[in-house]
Amino acid sequence: MSEPKKLFVKTYGCQMNVYDSERMVSALGGQGYVETDTPEGADMILLNTCHIREKAAEKIYSELGRYKPFKAANPDLKIGVAGCVAQAEGEEIIRRQPMVDLVVGPQAYHRLPEMESKIGQVKAQVDTEFPAEDKFDHLPRGPKARRAPSAFLTVQEGCDKFCAFCVVPYTRGAEVSRSVEQILAEAHDLVERGVVEINLLGQNVNAYHGTHDGREWGLAQLIRELAKIDELKRIRFTTSHPNDMDDDLIAAHGDCDKLMPYLHLPVQAGSDKVLKAMNRKHTAAEYLALIERIRAARPDIALSGDFIVGFPGETEEDFQATLDLCREVRYGQAYSFKYSPRPGTPAADRTHVDEAEKNDRLARLQALLSQHQAEFQNSMVGKTLPVLLEKPGRNPGQMIGKSEFLHAVHMDASPDQVGKIVQAKVLWSERNSLAAELI
Ligand code: 5AD
Ligand code: SF4
Repeated sequence: MSEPKKLFVKTYGCQMNVYDSERMVSALGGQGYVETDTPEGADMILLNTCHIREKAAEKIYSELGRYKPFKAANPDLKIGVAGCVAQAEGEEIIRRQPMVDLVVGPQAYHRLPEMESKIGQVKAQVDTEFPAEDKFDHLPRGPKARRAPSAFLTVQEGCDKFCAFCVVPYTRGAEVSRSVEQILAEAHDLVERGVVEINLLGQNVNAYHGTHDGREWGLAQLIRELAKIDELKRIRFTTSHPNDMDDDLIAAHGDCDKLMPYLHLPVQAGSDKVLKAMNRKHTAAEYLALIERIRAARPDIALSGDFIVGFPGETEEDFQATLDLCREVRYGQAYSFKYSPRPGTPAADRTHVDEAEKNDRLARLQALLSQHQAEFQNSMVGKTLPVLLEKPGRNPGQMIGKSEFLHAVHMDASPDQVGKIVQAKVLWSERNSLAAELI
């Protein structure tokens, strides 16, 4: 048997990319590749890129520059660029970095094995199509190796919302849902490998609509079906748009024990004028009313959100409305960003807020969000919580797990307990984690 070839994958961006990278590794497994965690000595380097942050493409070009000496030392080294920068830049990548052998968009990566086999025979290949065939059908399953107890499972991709700041509808394409059967089969496969928590992924995951026995299924029905799998203990989903939170999904937060009490529900801003300019298609009051209904179904739910400050046209008064909304919701955790233009999106050509003003608003918003996060974490101190143990911690004898509310929790425990849900008493709160002891 020949030596396995080494594949180094560097993943940028969201959890959907983490999932896609896993699938690409298993697809290339059929070509004799095994994953390695350094680019040194690799036979193939694949960058799975993200386009959401500022200067994303430029960062990829400079990363590719770093691999030039590798290619000089080993002319057989294969270099690929996948993901959303690949989709957005296409041929341009080959023009600027001729050493790149293939460029593959997020909807075409099931064609990777074939593309890989043609490297050297044809010139650099670019595939940024949105093919009619389903990439998930084409990806081979790897051997039934044990896996970490918590796994991602993509159920939906793409976005039809066209928020004025966002590239996702252009790079990932229209909303598409995977079939119920495919998802259930993958969930069973994960559980057989030791997975006890599944995080259902989609750019607009709550817009999921599959069909089962000829009937339409929403995300809530899918979650209820997954909850019937005995060995599966925890279900989560991310990311959701407020306008797709239907009654059934809200109800599921109240009546489905395995659905965790945590919801990432980005609002982006608190001013109706800004929400309209962002094309979010809801007001602040509608969002707050939705939060009230979700809390009525599951009073202890932890909420998380995304915010953009300094969107074109945002005044100090508009920004104050964002702070007010945060004070009203009291997020357990949140992500906040300064607006930065993405070429090709509607907001990119508008008049921008001054950079110093953006920095100031971001600092004030983050101070408030951190205060709320600390208060929420402090409210856990002294309580006993179920924690799913996931991996060893930094210190010897320490393990890290997750609370139902998605807090990272560390405690002294044995590595044999990976995958177990233990009861732990919270001792104190740190910046982004809880310290606990097993009871
Ligand atoms: N500028 C700043 N933040 C952005 N996001 C998306 N596009 C931009 C942009 N152009 C943020 C949004 C989104 C999160 C994933 O990234 O808050 O919810
Ligand atoms: Fe982007 Fe999310 Fe808006 Fe879709 S809903 S355009 S993914 S921010």
